[in-house]
Amino acid sequence: MIFDTHAHYDSSQFDEDREELLASMPEQGVGTIVNVGASFESCFTVPEMVKKYPFMYAAVGVHPDEAGALNEETFAMMKKQFAQEKVIAVGEIGLDYYWDNEPHDLQKKWFIRQLGLARELSLPVLIHSREAASDTLEIMKEYGGGLGGVIHCFSYSKEMAAEYVKMGYYIGVGGVVTFKNGRKLKEVVAETPLTSIVLETDCPYLAPVPFRGKRNNSGYIRYVAEEVAKIKGVSVQEVIRQTEENAKKMYGLA
Ligand code: NI
Repeated sequence: MIFDTHAHYDSSQFDEDREELLASMPEQGVGTIVNVGASFESCFTVPEMVKKYPFMYAAVGVHPDEAGALNEETFAMMKKQFAQEKVIAVGEIGLDYYWDNEPHDLQKKWFIRQLGLARELSLPVLIHSREAASDTLEIMKEYGGGLGGVIHCFSYSKEMAAEYVKMGYYIGVGGVVTFKNGRKLKEVVAETPLTSIVLETDCPYLAPVPFRGKRNNSGYIRYVAEEVAKIKGVSVQEVIRQTEENAKKMYGLA
């Protein structure tokens, strides 16, 4: 079944129909969803939410755009959340020089601290990196070796993807691969072995064609799987099966 490795169902965009939508996931072929923290607040709401759904797990971490929320005290509060059931990864963490919400030094500091946390807890990491390719790779080489996890919503070159695959990381592929201007990601998918790819929505964002611009949800991953299958010249079933196996291995659920 479909494994959505990265979703944000705590978003207010789901407030009106969250229950019904999530209840429909099994019949839409979705077997597992990892709900991912981004803001400091979500580190508390996300682990609560996943308790309600047997097919849902949580990742806890603070996004680079929100790094200003972290200090020693809030970091310690976040760390306690890993004692909750079904919290299986640290994320999303990383660097974002596109929105550039927080100073780079501050982003780097809390990225490195959260990588350290993952090491201490022996958990995989979910990496967010936008327009920060070289700084991210440098930090990952120094602090991220052997942790395992995914470079989520991968937006860099096929050469960069190969670097991460060599380090044992998975490449996160979502709706962008279906976009007309998604050529770079299509190339990455063509060059990256299917055994190193995981599927994700990043919902409510980045809905695939034919829903581009609308609210995304895990059911739409089948359109991503179809595109990956087309690029790889394999069946959609094979893409769903292999990426589910990859995701389970990555999250230690196998
Ligand atoms: Ni995300």
